[in-house]
Amino acid sequence: MEPLIQPSYYSDTEIFQREQVLIFQNLWNFAGFTTDLQIHNDYICADIGGKSVTVQNFHGELRAFLNVCSHRFSKIHHQPQGNGALKCPYHGWVYNSEGIPVAIPSVQQFDINNITKESLRLEKWLVEVCGKLVFVKRNDDGITLKEFLGSIYDKIANFSEAFGQKINEYQLKINANWKITTENTLEGYHVFSVHKNTFSKYGVPAEKKYICNEIHTAYSDIGNIKYIEKSIEAILLKKAESVVQNRPLKLGSYYHQLIFPNLTIATNDGIAFYVQINQPINPVETKLISHVFVSKLDIKSDLEQSIINTLTQSLTKIFLEVCEEDKAICEIVQLGISSRNEGGGIFSLEEQRVYEFHKAYCKLMNFSLSENLKTSIMESVP
Ligand code: FES
Ligand SMILES: [Fe+2]
Repeated sequence: MEPLIQPSYYSDTEIFQREQVLIFQNLWNFAGFTTDLQIHNDYICADIGGKSVTVQNFHGELRAFLNVCSHRFSKIHHQPQGNGALKCPYHGWVYNSEGIPVAIPSVQQFDINNITKESLRLEKWLVEVCGKLVFVKRNDDGITLKEFLGSIYDKIANFSEAFGQKINEYQLKINANWKITTENTLEGYHVFSVHKNTFSKYGVPAEKKYICNEIHTAYSDIGNIKYIEKSIEAILLKKAESVVQNRPLKLGSYYHQLIFPNLTIATNDGIAFYVQINQPINPVETKLISHVFVSKLDIKSDLEQSIINTLTQSLTKIFLEVCEEDKAICEIVQLGISSRNEGGGIFSLEEQRVYEFHKAYCKLMNFSLSENLKTSIMESVP
């Protein structure tokens, strides 16, 4: 197996612009959690394909819009999440659940009738939910979220329904293309070299399984949850055993799922969940947004709570260290890839999910998988 994405695509501005439309605006992309959209006027904002998008609860119904006022184009919601009317902070226009301006200060100064109001409607995006995860899409090609997620739809719904308390939210700016940071999560080949003092503490996996039959590839690894005996994690897990044994999700393994293109959900046997978005900023910068949840648990005493707190603190500490190690290596990879000529490279069996990622990417970008990718790109750029 050889890489299909050429080195220059990890820094090229034209490629980046093309990705924003074909990979991000045209596909279902993660925007946030239903837990932040519980009551009327709760809203969340997300940056998708270079666009600011907001999802808002209107009396129990979720609607998504381009988060840009139709008057003179200010952003409407400017906090990542909150509760409030869909009201522009600049001159105070208020929009209804259809995205139509319904309250315009000094409206008599404008030449506005109902037809004009209709033409001032906010750009509507599609919004659908899988479990506790909210997805949006700009262009309607008739593919539902359920169709897009395919066979992993139920799994993702089950995972997210098992999310309990959020124990950490973390953002990291990485000086590397979003594909480098995403590909890095798709292979364990680098673990021994990059994470020898963190991830490697989990022990050597007894069995590795790659699930590569669709664009949303997954990995599970039985041995990874067998902590090296006498490690702090092993002792903490033993202590927490009675508290976590009734958790809703038990997989018997570490599990890592990519939701193409840039969302990953990992879990160590349903005890904690790590949701990460590799959000492109520009061709050579990515914002890594991480949410860590502990499983829904039936905690009966202060002692049980304190055992869980100690365990989650320890798991979070390792997770944050791993993120920093990945940031450092991704930035080094970016420096290398930016200096490399086109072609070449090779994947091991452990990197087959990266290969699948390349395949899905090339298909969606309308690149042929032939050797002469450069030519096919130039032909297909509109
Ligand atoms: S720009 Fe939004 S009300 Fe003027
Ligand atoms: Fe890593």
